[in-house]
Amino acid sequence: MAVIGTGITKFGELWDKSFREIGLEAGVKAIGDAGISGSDVEALYVGNMSSGQFIQQEHIAALVADNSGMAAQHIPATRVEGACASGAMALRAAAMAVASGHHDIVVVGGAEKMTDVDDDEANAILTMGCDQEWEAFFGATYNSIFAMMARRHMHEHGTTREQLACVAVKNHRHGALNPMAQFRSEITLETVMGAEMVADPLGTFDCSPVSDGAAAVVLAPLDIAHKAGGEVVELVTSCQASDSLSLANRRDICTMDATVHASRRAYSQSGITPGDVDVAEVHDCFTISEIMAVEDLGFVPKGQGGMAAESGMTALGGKIPVNTSGGLKARGNPIGATGIAQAVEIVAQLRGKADKRQVAGAEVGISHNVGGTGATAVVSVFRRAR
Ligand code: COA
Repeated sequence: MAVIGTGITKFGELWDKSFREIGLEAGVKAIGDAGISGSDVEALYVGNMSSGQFIQQEHIAALVADNSGMAAQHIPATRVEGACASGAMALRAAAMAVASGHHDIVVVGGAEKMTDVDDDEANAILTMGCDQEWEAFFGATYNSIFAMMARRHMHEHGTTREQLACVAVKNHRHGALNPMAQFRSEITLETVMGAEMVADPLGTFDCSPVSDGAAAVVLAPLDIAHKAGGEVVELVTSCQASDSLSLANRRDICTMDATVHASRRAYSQSGITPGDVDVAEVHDCFTISEIMAVEDLGFVPKGQGGMAAESGMTALGGKIPVNTSGGLKARGNPIGATGIAQAVEIVAQLRGKADKRQVAGAEVGISHNVGGTGATAVVSVFRRAR
């Protein structure tokens, strides 16, 4: 199948816009980009982690269908939740609906409105994606759990504090080129390393921010996409894998086995190897997450993810540009929207429409979205169709 349309809002602290407004904006942009009308849409999927906690609104897919005028068409509207992987899980669910032949034109969106609560409350809500009984109850947060992974990675593989900071510097540099990014300012290594400590060794600039935002894509079978003309981007496959919810039960806290399994399935189903990937959007909710992701996705051997950031290998102009959008770190991380925003960036790259962020000649791209601290991972492969 193909992605025939994409839409995204600006990410950031959008105090002047409601959940329904940002959801509608992304959806209308995607439908307009696809050159279809709302009446062509046969199903709607929405990725969202915690609208009940953030804005006291559940039944969010019905809200989106209603607010976009699609409730009157009586099409199925389905919410998908998987913590921070909600967006990519919605994309996968929509892809399977199209692949099965059940639907042709499907809109899949992701949205989260996180800044209507204060930061402490936002962190408490996010932590609900960890293991409540075995982690959150004892005071652990996402920040502290990823800090433990970082410390262990430094101990096991010699990853340095500077290498963690290099990820943030790179992603802010990329984000500065993305008009939709939350942070559009470049930062220095000194700024990252001198920032306020959040959970040792991670400071403020090692963390993705709390964000509002929405993104949407339109999926259709390849023959419909080819008939419409223009540059066609194929969604080749979308694979998902699981691991233990709590960190304590992991085989190795320096590896996300869910990422390893999801990516190996995705590579095998699409007939590619990590070396074929021209551009990737990976889950950098913290700087250590990107370092682990580039290892677990097979771009570099285990232990060399820090070096990949430090050497410029994963920067624009490097061997495998990672997070050209700015990633979760600089583009922003409105949880449910993140997996779809990654798809929007990869499609822009494969269409050759990523402006100053363009990776020359990009043919194959992947997106990698993680739920919680690694209990869920989704890897999707996109290819420029010939
Ligand atoms: N990166 C860069 N700048 C950030 C930032 C981040 N992650 N978070 C906040 N800022 C900036 C704000 O824009 C603000 O700048 P301003 O003064 O120019 O407006 C300033 O820092 C203070 O913002 P504030 O909201 O008070 O920060 P905070 O100290 O309360 O929160 C974090 C900072 C890093 C603790 C918070 O963003 C956080 O917990 N992030 C992780 C969220 C998370 O767990 N997501 C899920 C991952 S799986």
